[in-house]
Amino acid sequence: MAGRVEGKVALVTGAASGLGKAAAAMLVREGARVALTDRNEAGVREVAASLGESARAWALDVTKEPDWARVVDEVVATFGRLDVVVNNAGIGVSKDIESLSLEEWRLVHAVNLDGVFLGCKHAIRGMRQSGAKGSIINISSVAGLVGVDTLPAYCSSKAGVRLLTKSVALHCARKGYGIRCNSVHPTFIETPMVDDLASLTGDMAAGKARLARMIPLGRIGEPDDIAYAVLYLASDESKLMTGSELVVDGGTTAM
Ligand SMILES: NC(=O)c1ccc[n+]([C@@H]2O[C@H](COP(=O)([O-])OP(=O)(O)OC[C@H]3O[C@@H](n4cnc5c(N)ncnc54)[C@H](O)[C@@H]3O)[C@@H](O)[C@H]2O)c1
Repeated sequence: MAGRVEGKVALVTGAASGLGKAAAAMLVREGARVALTDRNEAGVREVAASLGESARAWALDVTKEPDWARVVDEVVATFGRLDVVVNNAGIGVSKDIESLSLEEWRLVHAVNLDGVFLGCKHAIRGMRQSGAKGSIINISSVAGLVGVDTLPAYCSSKAGVRLLTKSVALHCARKGYGIRCNSVHPTFIETPMVDDLASLTGDMAAGKARLARMIPLGRIGEPDDIAYAVLYLASDESKLMTGSELVVDGGTTAM
C-alpha cells in the first residue's frame, strides 16, 4: 500500500530534536523524501543518517535569509521538487514580563516568528518553482491561543504565527497557487524543550507531573501525537484545509 505522502518532498526545520525529528521520521515512513534542517548541523546529520536513503540533512538557521535561499534551492535541485515545509524550529525563554530582557524578547521572536515568516516566503518560492501544490505547516502552540504568565515572548511569537499562517493561506488561495498553510497548536509534549521547562523547579519528575495535571487528558503528549497531525496536513487528505489551526492539546484550551 502506498504511503500517505508517497512521492512528496518535505523540508522540516529544527529536525535534530523533539517534534521536528518525529515529524521527519513520520514523513519518511509514509513515503516522502525529507530534507532535515537544523542550526545543529552535527545533530541533524545524525538523525538524517538514521532515516535511510529518503532523508538528507542541511544546516539551516531559520533566522538567516541567506540560509533559506540556499537550502530551498539545494533541496529543489536535489529532490526535483518541494511539496511540504514544516516550520517547526522554536525556542522558549521562561521569564515573566518584569524579568524578561529586550534581547531575550527579540531572540524568541527572531526564531519563532521571523523564522516562520522566512520559512513561508521561501516555501512559496520553492513550491512555485517546482510547480507543486504545496502544504506549509507552522508549529505554533497552545501558548499561541491562551496566555501563560511566565512565557510572554513565547506567547506573543506563537500568537503571531497563528495569524501569519492565515494571512499566507489567504494570499496563496487568492493567487490560485494551490498552496495551503495551516498552524498546529500542541500542548506539552515529551521533548528536550519540555524537559527544560519541567526542570525549572529543580525536580523534573515533579515538574512533569505538574504539567500533566494542566492537561485534562492527564498526560504529557508524545512527539508522534504531533507528527500524525503534521502527516495529515502534509497529505492530500487535508486538501480542503487552509488557514486552519489544528489544536492537539488533550483538552487544555477547552476549559
Ligand atoms: N514540546 C512541547 O511541549 C511543545 C509544545 C508546543 C509547541 N512546541 C513547539 O514545537 C517546536 C519544536 O519544539 P521541541 O519541543 O521539539 O523543541 P526542541 O528544543 O526539542 O527542538 C527544537 C529544535 O530546533 C532547533 N533550533 C532552535 N533554534 C533554531 C534556529 N534558529 N534555526 C534552526 N533550528 C533551530 C534546535 O537546534 C532543536 O533541534 C517549537 O516551535 C516549539 O515551540 C513544542
